[in-house]
Amino acid sequence: MNVLTNPSQLLVKNSDVLEAERILVIQPENDDFVSQLCQQGTASVNVFTTSEAVRSRLADLGVSDACLVYGECIPVQEEKPDTVILYLQKSREFMNYLLAMSLPLLMDNGRLLLVGENGSGIKSWQKRLAAYGDVVKIDSARHCSLYVLTPTVKPSPFVIDDWIASFEEVVHDVCIKAVTLPGVFNHGRLDVGTRLLLETMEAGFKGDILDFGCGSGVVGTWLAKRFPGIRLSLLDNDAMALAATRETCRINEIEPVAVIGSNGLENVRGRFNAVVSNPPFHEGVKTQYETTEQFLRESKSLLKPRGRLRIVANSFLRYPPIIEAVFGHCHVLAKRNGFTVYEAING
Ligand SMILES: C[S@@+](CC[C@H](N)C(=O)[O-])C[C@H]1O[C@@H](n2cnc3c(N)ncnc32)[C@H](O)[C@@H]1O
Repeated sequence: MNVLTNPSQLLVKNSDVLEAERILVIQPENDDFVSQLCQQGTASVNVFTTSEAVRSRLADLGVSDACLVYGECIPVQEEKPDTVILYLQKSREFMNYLLAMSLPLLMDNGRLLLVGENGSGIKSWQKRLAAYGDVVKIDSARHCSLYVLTPTVKPSPFVIDDWIASFEEVVHDVCIKAVTLPGVFNHGRLDVGTRLLLETMEAGFKGDILDFGCGSGVVGTWLAKRFPGIRLSLLDNDAMALAATRETCRINEIEPVAVIGSNGLENVRGRFNAVVSNPPFHEGVKTQYETTEQFLRESKSLLKPRGRLRIVANSFLRYPPIIEAVFGHCHVLAKRNGFTVYEAING
């Protein structure tokens, strides 16, 4: 079945603006737009995504690895694109990051198309884009808008280090420094829920530990400092998070066993003494529970005998019935400021 989100439908509706020789698509949605564009064969198409879910879908649809960059940034290409298509992102800082990364990639006289849902604030980007050049609105339909930017200002070279931020936190006398990048969960400070989770981790962690949805890597890194000798794996769907996690591990002198790009548990191998998480419930601008519900349903199969699952979540989320159905019990370890820490033991 051919699936196109509303922003992609708006692009297809305006197929004349897609006439180009070399197109770079930045942060496409999890749909069939890119594979359709490749199949048309009229332009060479490259894609940049920070989402493993999108990367694996595109690979399944036959988009070749050579055209696909999954990572925190895309290097300047020998043959510069004449057209960049940028899908609107929720975080303003991440949008600024993507613009700073993609504008120097464009050939002279190239153009950037920005598409996104009206409800996600695309209209405010008409003004912001004007700082880079001439902006024209092409179309508005399917609750979305499409703009074209023709840059008139020469962009500065992109330097990823300019976008790195860090913060320090102490929990139970263990200090960690965390490195973050734009778009990574809770840029700049320890989340209230994450702090509550760490506060319950005073004792009892050893062996193989998986930090699911690691973000900037704070939970796993804190555990490795508190319990030296654990074998730590950290997992996230988001390549920005994985880049931040690698850096957080490095500056805290932690050597993880693995840093895994994975949509849910898809790319995880092996079994663990503990799986810990502040799991996701947002995707883009929409609330999304399915990833975490599936993670909870599959988590038992990842645990060694007597292995433990420990998560923190907003107290209103209906996770306890799922954990009870899988493990036969669900213990509440702490509750504060609207967050609850749950634990279940395998067997
Ligand atoms: C609430 S944040 C927690 C981040 C970090 N552990 C902390 O406590 O600061 C949830 C994380 O899950 C990641 N995530 C979202 N969807 C995912 C998926 N389908 N598979 C794996 N990770 C996902 C997000 O990128 C985000 O980093």
